Amino acid sequence: MKDTEKVKVMFVCLGNICRSPLAHAVFEDILEKEGLEDLLDVDSSGTGAWHVGEPADSRMRQTAGKHGVRINHYAQQLVSAHLDENDLILAMDRQNYKNILALCRSDEQRKKVKMFRDYDPEGSGDVPDPWYGGDEGFDMVWRIVYRTCVSLLSMLKADNTI
Ligand code: 4NP
Repeated sequence: MKDTEKVKVMFVCLGNICRSPLAHAVFEDILEKEGLEDLLDVDSSGTGAWHVGEPADSRMRQTAGKHGVRINHYAQQLVSAHLDENDLILAMDRQNYKNILALCRSDEQRKKVKMFRDYDPEGSGDVPDPWYGGDEGFDMVWRIVYRTCVSLLSMLKADNTI
């Protein structure tokens, strides 16, 4: 993508309080552990505005905390400037994907948008929305997000993006 500047990755879900802030924190944690934090800029946002300014959902923070990952993000809504600023925009589910594409105004923007689970070695499709469910939903989101972030980093290395 770019030789000199950091590669910018944005994770996007609906509320930006559960799935995308988890992916954001997990991916940053993996990058730090590998000493690669200078190569990538990581951010997250939601297609909806209901939770803007709020910290991540306490159940999501607790699940991440069990695995030693801290979520420090405050929710923001995806805006069209993000589509120019970022190199890779990863949607947590198909509805988010459609909503992101509806914001795009050029093919250059559209080609940056992918489904997050395109990088999942064990599945594809949606990261299930855990908002209305119980703890097992948050644990499942953790497992999907963790393994997909590991695989995403491998793929970015393999295709020389970083
Ligand atoms: P997220 O989860 O998109 O993973 O942050 C949700 C958070 C809030 C709502 C829906 C999903 N909500 O309807 O308020």
